Amino acid sequence: MKLWYSPASPFVRKVLVLAHETGLQDEIELVPVATTVVDPDSDLAKANPVGKIPTLVTDDGMSIFDSRVICEYLDSLHDGDRMFPAEGVERFNALTTQAMGDGVLDAAVGVRYETFLRPAEKQWDKWVSSQMRKVTQSLDVLESWRGANLQDIHIGSITVACALGYLEFRQPDMDWRKGRPLLTQMYETFSKRTSMQETRPE
Ligand code: BEZ
Repeated sequence: MKLWYSPASPFVRKVLVLAHETGLQDEIELVPVATTVVDPDSDLAKANPVGKIPTLVTDDGMSIFDSRVICEYLDSLHDGDRMFPAEGVERFNALTTQAMGDGVLDAAVGVRYETFLRPAEKQWDKWVSSQMRKVTQSLDVLESWRGANLQDIHIGSITVACALGYLEFRQPDMDWRKGRPLLTQMYETFSKRTSMQETRPE
């Protein structure tokens, strides 16, 4: 199977971390693509009309996206410990934790686009600060919500680790660790895993 990817994308990283954690990393051929919201890649658009990475194309030619769907697909292909708990509170806590990590990433990637791609005179400070508020509010909940169960490896903790890594990469001045000792400890432990080391953005 082929994965359309960019090494800086935290959503791609999430898929690759899950692939490493489930032993599937060697089954995936990486197809690099330079695409942005304002300069989409036309070949990628044939595989994914929304034009986003990550997009996975299976050996049978089936296109699968977005990162949530790709991760769940990959999790169906191996015989090891499931990254998506099968049922009950455990499943919905993991999915909600994933949604919070993805929400942090949506906001942080949006800020990156606004401050990096948009011409300076058109940037909207209030929009940026409201996106960053979503980030800090979500991190505060993740710091205190036991249901997130971040010491275990599952789709929720993978997504949160990738979100914290992305903040460290693109928002180093934010200092997300300040006042969040449990997330700090979780990230220090999680980021030593081979899956995280092998997928670090440049
Ligand atoms: C980034 O460079 O921050 C980035 C690249 C691809 C997707 C999202 C973010």
